[in-house]
Amino acid sequence: MGFEEMWHELEPVGRSSASGGYFRQPWTGAEGELRSWFAEAAAARGLRVETDGLGNQVAWWDAGSGDAVLTGSHLDSVLDGGAYDGPLGVVSGLAAIDVLRERGVQPSRPLGVSVFVEEEGSRFGIACLGSRLATGTLDWSTARELRDRDGVFLSDALSAAGLGEGGRWSELDGVGCFVELHVEQGRDLVDRGAAVGVGSGIWPHGRYRFEFAGEANHAGTTRMEDRHDPMLTYAMTALAAHKQARLAGERATFGRVAVEPNGTNAVPSRVTAWLDARASSEGSLSELVDVVIRQAGERAGRDGTTLDVTPESVSGEVAFDADLAARIAADHAEGDWPIIPTAAGHDAGILAAAGVPTAMLFVRNPTGVSHSPAEHAEVADCLVGVSALANTLERLVS
Ligand code: GLV
Ligand code: MN
Ligand code: MN
Repeated sequence: MGFEEMWHELEPVGRSSASGGYFRQPWTGAEGELRSWFAEAAAARGLRVETDGLGNQVAWWDAGSGDAVLTGSHLDSVLDGGAYDGPLGVVSGLAAIDVLRERGVQPSRPLGVSVFVEEEGSRFGIACLGSRLATGTLDWSTARELRDRDGVFLSDALSAAGLGEGGRWSELDGVGCFVELHVEQGRDLVDRGAAVGVGSGIWPHGRYRFEFAGEANHAGTTRMEDRHDPMLTYAMTALAAHKQARLAGERATFGRVAVEPNGTNAVPSRVTAWLDARASSEGSLSELVDVVIRQAGERAGRDGTTLDVTPESVSGEVAFDADLAARIAADHAEGDWPIIPTAAGHDAGILAAAGVPTAMLFVRNPTGVSHSPAEHAEVADCLVGVSALANTLERLVS
């Protein structure tokens, strides 16, 4: 089954008929269906599938000996996400194995296709939860206490999905190299007129929970000057974050807010909002977040509200293996593929930080839109991506 047939099979899984976007949250029915799909697609190729207690999967082509080469990505989505962020890398990994077999390649080392769970952190809040636990970057004793929006503990979500416990995964111990192919989440490749690009690194980024607390009161009878309204403190903080990031060429987003009690005719008692911040260096990221917290605190003082900030997941700067990137980039008949940085997070960043030599391939996205139902890549570009990935893997296993 080729790339397009696999893609066609995945298309309906977790798709909303209202928006056309995807809801493939971890340890839900849609994600379970994708996990089974992957196991079947691997079995149909004679690959051996290993699954850990969290549901991370690797489909192994047991060949040769020594350190393994791993490729892959994730199958979960953000809420109402696109089809490509994640699945493109998984399907391309399987398709690249087909290409190697058609070419008669006999790998001298094991080759695996991986799927890491909860890459988006859309359910339990921590980005790249599956790869963080599998590499030992995060401890299970901490992770098991995480709760989703409905208050379900991670450990209970796993039991309900028929899985076990997370933690360091020995399957990854023998991995000598990781290559993740991903849809581009910007327009760099469009501007450069290239179907494929190679990653140089990932911007540092983090998620910070801002809890603004005030005093609930009547919307009609409470004079404006008597209020302690946390919504005002939050609103000014969102504007300040936007301004700071825009002036510095960085990124700051409040994309998730919870209001209590969330009634039309009451001043709220509490607003919880999540800041996603990204910058080109760790120093500038800390500076950006510090300035936003300082301005929010000053405004809280004026509003008579309080503020508590908790970092939920912070990822440092990642530089991918420069030699590997240069070799992949040079593998293009009409001149090198561009080597570009990304401000999006990836499991590849977690593996790189854990000491695994890592590379990324990006496939052109005509609009650059991502984390949205509008995310797209043309089939012709996806096939160029499969071929670039196959060439890379062939070189690594030969
Ligand atoms: C994942 O795609 C992220 O960058 O948040
Ligand atoms: Mn994503
Ligand atoms: Mn992704």
